[in-house]
Amino acid sequence: MNGMAGGGAASLDSDMAWWRKAVIYEVYIRSYADGNGDGIGDIPGIRSRLPYLRDLGVDAIWVTPWYPSPQVDGGYDVSDFRDIDPLLGSIDDAENLIGDVHELGLRIIADIVPNHTSDRHRWFQSALAAGSGGPERDRYVFRRGRGANGDLPPNDWRSRLGGPAWTRVAEPDGTPGEWYLHLFTAGQPCLNWDNMNVRSEFLSILRFWFDRGIDGFRVDGATRLGKNLEMPEESPNPEGYGPGEHPFFDRDEVHEIFRDWRRVADEYSGERTFVAEAWLPIPERWARYVQPGGLHTAFNFGCLHAGWDAIRLGETIEMTTRAMGRVGAPSTWVLSSHDAVRLVTRFGRAETMQHHADKSKNYGRETDLNLGVRRARAAVLLALALPGVMYIYQGEELGLWEIQDLPEEALRDPFWEYSGRLIRGRDGCRVPLPWSGTEQPFGFTSGCTPPWLPQPDEWRDYTVEAQEGKRGSMLELYRAALRIRRDHPALGGGTLRWLEKSGQALSFARDPGFICAVNFSGDPYRIPGRGDILLTSGPLLGDCLPVDTAAWITLDKY
Ligand code: BGC
Repeated sequence: MNGMAGGGAASLDSDMAWWRKAVIYEVYIRSYADGNGDGIGDIPGIRSRLPYLRDLGVDAIWVTPWYPSPQVDGGYDVSDFRDIDPLLGSIDDAENLIGDVHELGLRIIADIVPNHTSDRHRWFQSALAAGSGGPERDRYVFRRGRGANGDLPPNDWRSRLGGPAWTRVAEPDGTPGEWYLHLFTAGQPCLNWDNMNVRSEFLSILRFWFDRGIDGFRVDGATRLGKNLEMPEESPNPEGYGPGEHPFFDRDEVHEIFRDWRRVADEYSGERTFVAEAWLPIPERWARYVQPGGLHTAFNFGCLHAGWDAIRLGETIEMTTRAMGRVGAPSTWVLSSHDAVRLVTRFGRAETMQHHADKSKNYGRETDLNLGVRRARAAVLLALALPGVMYIYQGEELGLWEIQDLPEEALRDPFWEYSGRLIRGRDGCRVPLPWSGTEQPFGFTSGCTPPWLPQPDEWRDYTVEAQEGKRGSMLELYRAALRIRRDHPALGGGTLRWLEKSGQALSFARDPGFICAVNFSGDPYRIPGRGDILLTSGPLLGDCLPVDTAAWITLDKY
């Protein structure tokens, strides 16, 4: 233990409600930094690169699952929630990381995956061994099949990767037996959240990590815990159902579970927090996840879906701030993640929108990376100027693009095999980070084993080393923006006031004395307000913003 049990360091405790205004950096652990030379990122790697994150200016990190796992789905298939995968480190490493993070004045959020475990989890193994009807099976969702011999799946539900959401098991005597539910791969059996043992076990897992000083959790698939097996899945699109009526998405019973979780977080000092991976197009349904007594914040995929479109972005900003404001929760802003197409690629295409659930990613579409970079630079200034919490996915601050031509044999995302090798999946945004040097592995690993996904040669100009101190680099833009966001009294929490919200421009004021303006039109846009320019995403045209450019203006000295 690192002495952090029950709370953070004194300096952290004095900054209450940090989670209302933080900038949180997503560390996709396999791809951030490799400390032991096996070509896969790990906890010692993160520790060695913490000063970089402090200098970047973020407030916290969210680390994707680090638990023991067969890695069928990048660690989102957990076989023990109270340990660390030996591939990624040890419990001691995790405790040391938590200690180091706090020492640097940062926070750390772990990822918890409550919808399912791995099929290697001892619960699932004992459920298989116990046979039909035993209490071990009740932790999961086992059912008899339909048809005379039970050889048809129990219902018509589909896995999110395609194909039936059910797999049949062999009973201990070898005969074909019951089926179990898995909304994702067959290696990720769904837990039964009506089982009180599952509920209490997860409360104990939360305590296990809170006791070790973790500052919070990202709650994977928070909308999926409730299930009504009697209902058919009439449409794969949750939006085709009435509020709370989908058989396994956003059911009302999930909130009771999260109220229990919140009570556990509140037992600890230091503002421990949850962020739900929950986004719903109906504001009232979405806001229920963060109502008082529920989870603290919820991801907002609205901006991801909106693409580079002023009308849609304006609408989503408006909808988000209203929905969250009504229940007293901060807004969050997410432009990309380990599940989405890299921003500069998305914004360099004619179609800039992407639904976060669409893993096909429009590969092969023509991409103008210069255009993408220009827009991505403007987008980050827009998002960082909004009130609330901002998530930055690793590598966005380097302007990395989606790698669309990874060799087929390198692909690890289960979507690839599940789709019959039609959908390449999400690996293209998960290529290990380039830190330094002019050739692969670009400082990602010190060992001889190459990175688990190959990096392109062109990244030699996009390493941290190549961008550090370089005028106009993406990295320096992020650093400057994060410095201002931290220092300017108008930024972070609070509200915004629109100056213009049209198809041509988005411009808003933050009090005291701050304006953000973004030009989406084909014509130069006169910078509003009579203040000093603090930062722009690209060169100005006199007093005007060129197309796809953003500016931050301060009206007062600060
Ligand atoms: C994670 C994905 C993962 C899925 C299944 C998602 O929310 O972000 O990467 O495949 O959950 O656990």
